[in-house]
Amino acid sequence: MTTNSLLILPGDGIGPEVMTEVRKVIGWFDGRGMSFDVSEDLVGGCAYDAHGTPLHDDTMAKAQEVDAVLLGAVGGPKYDSLDFSLKPERGLLRLRKEMDLFANLRPAQCFDALADFSSLKKDVVAGLDIMIVRELTSGIYFGEPRGIVTEGNERVGINTQRYTESEIARVARSAFELARRRGNKVCSMEKANVMESGVLWREVVTKIGAEEYPDVALSHMYADAGAMQLCRWPKQFDVIVTDNLFGDLLSDAAAMLTGSLGMLPSASLGLPMANGRPKALYEPVHGSAPDITGQGKANPIACILSFAMALRYSFDAGDEATRLEKAVEKVLADGLRTADLLGPEGGSPVSTGEMGDAIVAALDAA
Ligand code: NAD
Ligand code: IPM
Ligand code: MN
Repeated sequence: MTTNSLLILPGDGIGPEVMTEVRKVIGWFDGRGMSFDVSEDLVGGCAYDAHGTPLHDDTMAKAQEVDAVLLGAVGGPKYDSLDFSLKPERGLLRLRKEMDLFANLRPAQCFDALADFSSLKKDVVAGLDIMIVRELTSGIYFGEPRGIVTEGNERVGINTQRYTESEIARVARSAFELARRRGNKVCSMEKANVMESGVLWREVVTKIGAEEYPDVALSHMYADAGAMQLCRWPKQFDVIVTDNLFGDLLSDAAAMLTGSLGMLPSASLGLPMANGRPKALYEPVHGSAPDITGQGKANPIACILSFAMALRYSFDAGDEATRLEKAVEKVLADGLRTADLLGPEGGSPVSTGEMGDAIVAALDAA
């Protein structure tokens, strides 16, 4: 039996709380036809507290070696006044950059049991299944020049949007490949009307589409109009491919189509390693949620579904991934709700731990 190596980085805030539930799920799969070698380390504010850096070099080296990294969340108000280079978020950005995880897959699926709960009408979201592919290692997040400089008698904050043709081409190929295994449609979003990087983006995506994926239907949208269409009629989309910053915004917006930010998983994939598996990091789309930390209120589903993506994309275990997704679906259909999945009229929420236990029990029953 292949042993799957997994580095767990729970991070800050609710990160460790949701990761405790994922550990229960990993424990369930371990020994049932699969074997995991799990190690754990620090990232973000907790790494800064221990080592004075949001990501220790040893942790970075470990991340490069394992089959997959699973991360909870980083950040929190305690670290707001730190120097920019030491902020918890820098630890996560370093992992993404040094592992070269250029394709960030952010699926937004509306489970039937939650169709009533979305802030949009049930008909608009029921059955929704879209995939946002966000470029993750370039663009304005990493472009130079950047910084805060003094010009004359005032300061100027600078960030630079920058994309090379090859950076656009590789993430476009990821999107087209995914589309072939889904609804065969790609919508590319940029702002070619105002940004040169958007003009190049559109040109490169169009060329790759025409030359390599003529069977996939390709369309283009300005990202602002795309945000509007995502709320108006999200089911028109299959795969959306977009840059780093637009992808960040559009995926948080897409979270509300599914009911809660606590539902959205992600996979960040890079190039294949020597064993054929892609470099990979899995994490929920949400952050450390300081407002609910330590209260047992966090929804662990986004992190659990991120592990399901690890089963599918890193561990060659598509059937097991589907089984886990079905267990989540069943628990929701049974009416279990963490507090984020209840409306203003309330109801009785289950705790983070109760939700995790119920999902493990549903795995048993499946
Ligand atoms: P956030 O995602 O942490 O929280 C936004 C809102 O969603 C909050 O009201 C929170 O309670 C709620 N929420 C988020 N996840 C939830 C879950 N699993 N269950 C229930 N409710 C949930 O975003 P924020 O408040 O803007 O950021 C807080 C910190 O997290 C910041 O330091 C930010 O930089 C960081 N952050 C980290 C990541 C990451 O680690 N990948 C992602 C986003 C934000
Ligand atoms: C996300 C987060 C991160 C981002 C931060 C925490 C660096 O918002 O993963 O969506 O902006 O990419
Ligand atoms: Mn984000």
